[in-house]
Amino acid sequence: MNSYINEIDFFKGNKPEDLAAQYGTPLYVYNESVLRQQMRKVEGLIKKYPYTANYSIKSNSNLSILKIALEEGLNADAMSVNEMRILLLAGFPAERIFFVPNNVSSEELTFAHDNNIMTSLDSIDQLRRFGKLFPGSRCAVRINPGVGAGHHEKVVTAGKKTKFAIAEEDIDEVFEVAKEYNLTIAGINQHVGSLYMVPDPFLAAIKNFLRIARRFPDLEFVDFGGGFGTPYHKLSDEAPFDIDKLSAEMEPILDEFVKDYGKAPLFKSEPGRYCVAESSLILGRVHATKSNYGHKYAGTDIGMNVLARPTLYDSWHDIEIIRDNEVVTSDKGTEVVTVTGNICESGDLLAKDRELPVIKTDDLVAVLDAGAYGYSMSSSYNLRPKCAEVMITGDGNAKLIRRRETFEDLISLFC
Ligand code: LLP
Repeated sequence: MNSYINEIDFFKGNKPEDLAAQYGTPLYVYNESVLRQQMRKVEGLIKKYPYTANYSIKSNSNLSILKIALEEGLNADAMSVNEMRILLLAGFPAERIFFVPNNVSSEELTFAHDNNIMTSLDSIDQLRRFGKLFPGSRCAVRINPGVGAGHHEKVVTAGKKTKFAIAEEDIDEVFEVAKEYNLTIAGINQHVGSLYMVPDPFLAAIKNFLRIARRFPDLEFVDFGGGFGTPYHKLSDEAPFDIDKLSAEMEPILDEFVKDYGKAPLFKSEPGRYCVAESSLILGRVHATKSNYGHKYAGTDIGMNVLARPTLYDSWHDIEIIRDNEVVTSDKGTEVVTVTGNICESGDLLAKDRELPVIKTDDLVAVLDAGAYGYSMSSSYNLRPKCAEVMITGDGNAKLIRRRETFEDLISLFC
């Protein structure tokens, strides 16, 4: 693909320079149509049995996006009290929220319990804490199915080397603690890891998970987690994650389980990235270009404070160059360049030695697929304010959905 921006008409007639002038750069720009389309795809994952997709809001918790998820009929999962609070604020009823925390305090568990939000406990210790606080109640447990997957070791959340979930060998203890505190284990959940591009790791994990599920009597729900991938190399024609193939290949596995188990519990998934990643790009400005000892650099205002993923995981994000509101394509000539931010860290790199159309000072750059774990992991390092977010709505209007932080915001917490 030559240009994702042109291919899908990302800006829907809005001029990138106008957006930059009105809202400043760096700027997260979202495309509502892409967002809704992705959300609809995850909703169709399981058709034959009761199913809900829980949007995993850690990937992007902008209130406007949560309202769209609600409108699209998604449920949601939360990792913290504030994630539960913002979901309630967005209008999600408690029964459509699933609290899937890790190492939380009694206060956090109490918030969920008092708001009738189903909680999953991810260690025997936390299950015991929950049992002591709320004997006789219902909860879920997060099981580590022993199979992990993901784009980087930092995002693999199952298997033998992870802090998450309860190991299969400890399941007897789950039953003992549940009995001691008269807890009903209403559901079990897993999350194997984040970003796989083929269904196989997920299929292997659900097979194994359903084998484990048979040990739990009368489950109301079984949650398979998220992790469905995004084609971050779309400009090199990387194929998207084939959710229809996953759906088809899951069906016989579910059939077999339902037959053996004697009933179909509610199946759930927890996708984050798949819903939001492709719906957003970051618009930034090139403030300087230079050559250092033979290496060409393009210095932008998109630092690791704006997008942490390349620095944290060496993640790849495709980049497009915009000059005079037009995408500059590679047929006009390319060069190998390192695209950096404006943060005082050598690791503040968006792309290292990347072949790109020749970049000039004052160009705009668009960093693609930034909607997941982009803004939600951004920071105000170097006292740079967090950026604004704008949504290009279905009818082509540009709507501010979060204003830029100000210096006053930044200093408002000092005593
Ligand atoms: N459920 C649980 C319990 C999770 O821990 C996660 C992600 C998800 C669902 C959603 O996973 P997704 O569908 O988005 O892959 N910051 C990293 C990703 C960390 C994922 C953490 N857990 C990144 O930027 O790649």
